[in-house]
Amino acid sequence: MNAILKKKFFRRKEQAEIQSLNQKLTEPAFLIKKDWVIATVKYKLKLIDLNLSDTYNRKIMQKVEYRVKKADSIARKLIKKGYPVTYENAKNKLNDIIGIRVVCLYSDDVYKISDRLKLQKDFTLIKEKDYIKAPKKSGYQSLHLILDIPLICDQTTEYQRVEIQIRTVAMDFWAGVDNHICYKKNPDEIKKAEADLKNYSAVISNMDKQMLNLRKKVEKM
Ligand code: GTP
Ligand code: MG
Repeated sequence: MNAILKKKFFRRKEQAEIQSLNQKLTEPAFLIKKDWVIATVKYKLKLIDLNLSDTYNRKIMQKVEYRVKKADSIARKLIKKGYPVTYENAKNKLNDIIGIRVVCLYSDDVYKISDRLKLQKDFTLIKEKDYIKAPKKSGYQSLHLILDIPLICDQTTEYQRVEIQIRTVAMDFWAGVDNHICYKKNPDEIKKAEADLKNYSAVISNMDKQMLNLRKKVEKM
């Protein structure tokens, strides 16, 4: 928490709000639900992967990762979006407190995984953002599914929202470098790097297409 409070970005009032948000995020009830929802999605992904890998006779998912957004990042995002820093706003206004990422080799695998996730009777699709068909201004590419996952206890169903990012290894490489470079301090350096990154995003998209074509050619042999 000390590290959070030290950040100059936040005013004193906001620091107190972050502290209370952090308290909520470390309560046993939140931690259990967080573990539960991550485990639910992970097991579902494991089965989907097994199934798809069987069908296509190759390993489909290369990597599955997850992360839970920290109180200071939640606060920063809420402030940026113009909302007061509260647990209720974090839960109701942000989709990505719990984030899961699936990385695969080929761009058509992204849609195979996404289609299967959308088929699940217990998951509710809230939003789909296809940044592969329409990359972000930065050049960022990925398919995002915002899903509500039910957690049933006794007679009540509580929904936990998750953001699932599905992308190729190449898109993941690009996003990793972009993420790293965003932390650089000098704005001029960043401007140039951003322009370069945008160009590299096109290179990666082209490479993904070529790799997919190559795979399809080999499959026909
Ligand atoms: P923010 O962009 O974080 O305000 O989230 P949003 O709710 O507007 O959704 P969006 O789909 O724009 O981004 C959600 C997530 O996608 C982010 O938290 C990042 O993990 C990832 N993302 C979006 N844009 C970029 C980008 O330009 N570069 C990188 N590396 N990741 C991005
Ligand atoms: Mg955004």
